[in-house]
Amino acid sequence: MAANPIEISASPVSNETGYRSFELGGFSFARDEYFAYISWTAGDQQLSHTMSADAFLRALMRAVAWGFFYGWLNFDSVFGTQQLYGRVKFFAGRYNPSYRDQGLDYEEIFDTPLAMETFKSLLRDWTNEGYDPFASPDETGTEWIGKKHGDNNEAVDREREVCRRMPGLPGDAPLRTDENGRPVNRAFLDVPQGQPEVHAEPGFEDEVHAHNLFGYLSRSDVTWNPSVSSVVKQSLFCPTTEEYILPVKHGNDRMEWFVQLSDQIDWEIEDKETGKPRAKVIMKAGDVAIMPADIRHQGFSKKRSMLLVWENGNPELPAMYERGELPVNLSGEF
Ligand code: PHB
Ligand code: FE
Repeated sequence: MAANPIEISASPVSNETGYRSFELGGFSFARDEYFAYISWTAGDQQLSHTMSADAFLRALMRAVAWGFFYGWLNFDSVFGTQQLYGRVKFFAGRYNPSYRDQGLDYEEIFDTPLAMETFKSLLRDWTNEGYDPFASPDETGTEWIGKKHGDNNEAVDREREVCRRMPGLPGDAPLRTDENGRPVNRAFLDVPQGQPEVHAEPGFEDEVHAHNLFGYLSRSDVTWNPSVSSVVKQSLFCPTTEEYILPVKHGNDRMEWFVQLSDQIDWEIEDKETGKPRAKVIMKAGDVAIMPADIRHQGFSKKRSMLLVWENGNPELPAMYERGELPVNLSGEF
C-alpha cells in the first residue's frame, strides 16, 4: 500500500488512559476517561476547554462524515469548524463574545485533507468498542467512558448515504431492505413498507421513478445524519431521522428548509456570530420552516422523528451572502 502522504501529529500511546493526543497547528486535543480537552494559545495565555467526550465524539463524527458540511459546525459555544470549501478553519472562542472581546479566541486555517486525516485518526482512536457516536443514546452503550478499550472502526468509518439522482434507480444508491441488512428501526415499526407502482412508457423506464421515502427513513440506523435522497441540479433533499440532540450547533452559510415529516423537533436558534438566543421553533409533523443564513441552530427530538432538510447546493451562495447580494431570510433583510 502507498504510504500516507499526509503526516498528522499524534502522540504515542503514553498516558495512563491509553488515548493518543493530537496536534493540528496551534490546537491540541487530548482525552481521558470522561472528557475531551482542546487547548490553544492566545497572546501569552494558554487556554484549555473541556467537553464531555461523548458530546465531542458525536460532533466529531458529523464533521468527519459530512466533510465539514456547509458553514459552521459549532461543537459547543467555544470550539468548532468553518467550511471554506477546500480548506477549513478551526476556531476556539471566535464566536463567543466572552472570549472574543478579551482577545482569548484563536483560529487557524488548514488544508482540508490534513484536518480530515487528523480528525479521522482522533475519532478512530478515541472511540471504544461498543460505542457508536452516530447512534441514539438509547441504542449505544456507555462504553465511551473509561480508559481506552477496543475500537469501532466499522461505525466511525460510515459516510453519508448519497444518491446521484434517487435511491433505487439503476446504478444509483440502493433502497434499504431487510435483505441488505437495514431493518426497520424500533421507533418506526408502524410505518407502511409498501412501494409505489411505477408504470413508465416504454423507453422511459430509467427516467420515471418513485420510492417510499417514509419506508426508506424508517430503516435509518443512525441519527442526525442527513442522507441525500434526491438530486435535481442544486436542489438536494437530505432527509434524516433524529433522536436526542443534534450534536452540533450548525451555523448556516445559506438558507435551508426544514419539513417536519413525523413527530416533533424543538429548535433553538441563536445569532451566528454571538450565540445570543434569537428564537425557539417547535416543529410538529407537517410544519415547514426556513432557517435564515445568519443563525446557528440545534434541534432536540424527544422521540425518533423524520426531518427533511432541503439544501440549495449552489457553491456560489456563501460568497454571495458575504458580499451582501442575497437577503439572509425570506423577509428580505440583508
Ligand atoms: C442542520 O444543520 O440543518 C441539520 C444537520 C443535521 C441534521 C438535521 C439538520 O440531522
Ligand atoms: Fe443547518
